[in-house]
Amino acid sequence: MKLTIVAATGGIGAHLLRQSVAAGHDVTPVVRDPAKLPVPTPAVTADLATAGPDTLAPALDGADAVLSCLGPRSTAEAGVASLGTRTIVTAMTAAGVRRLVVISAAPIGTVPSPGRPNPPKHDPGDGFLMRHVAAPLVKAILRAHYADLAEMEALVAGSGLDWTVVRPPRLTDRPGTGAYRTARGRNLRGGRIIARADVAHGMLRVLDQPDTIGQTIGIAY
Ligand SMILES: NC(=O)c1ccc[n+]([C@@H]2O[C@H](COP(=O)([O-])OP(=O)(O)OC[C@H]3O[C@@H](n4cnc5c(N)ncnc54)[C@H](OP(=O)(O)O)[C@@H]3O)[C@@H](O)[C@H]2O)c1
Repeated sequence: MKLTIVAATGGIGAHLLRQSVAAGHDVTPVVRDPAKLPVPTPAVTADLATAGPDTLAPALDGADAVLSCLGPRSTAEAGVASLGTRTIVTAMTAAGVRRLVVISAAPIGTVPSPGRPNPPKHDPGDGFLMRHVAAPLVKAILRAHYADLAEMEALVAGSGLDWTVVRPPRLTDRPGTGAYRTARGRNLRGGRIIARADVAHGMLRVLDQPDTIGQTIGIAY
């Protein structure tokens, strides 16, 4: 397939780039610093905090799918996920590219966004400790980041594209196993971590699963 990988220099993005190339896909990375690419690959350079949709056009020509691993490197960069994803959606719509896979986070199903001010109080996949201790704590600490991801999810869901949102819990840098669980529309009971390499694996896998279109996917061990 011809794939466009946004943020291929990040933790998940670098795994995704390596795995995509190893699987024989024709990959165009979109990154703000091509010098950081883990595999030398002709890339389109774009700072998605400022770039307009036209900047992405050369990366989308003939693409079968866009996989975005975009996210803030620091608290100060919170906002880039929704801002950059809006640009990606606009550019994909103009280019006629339909398939989009993005990374969000496990708690986002219960985070309000402007279009969904009253989300469900609990994710159906979360157990007692996650619902009443861990999720409230992490949502308080990462408030701005999660508001950004909730807004990103809302605009992806309203994009009219063939989208899938992948929601991992805490990420690790352990080697990938391929032995992770997934669930449609909910988190995984007891699934507290997943390796970045396995999130990348899961993002590639949903491209072969048309029934994940229009779905949020929980992914964890
Ligand atoms: N950390 C966790 O435990 C956790 C848990 C659940 C979900 N998540 C979500 O998963 C996302 C991906 O995780 P990760 O570990 O792969 O993140 P990461 O290593 O911080 O990667 C973020 C990527 O976004 C890129 N980026 C940031 N701002 C940009 C901009 N203005 N223009 C273009 N690219 C920009 C970065 O580019 P540079 O390489 O140039 O900086 C980097 O490639 C996180 O952002 C978070 O939303 C994280």
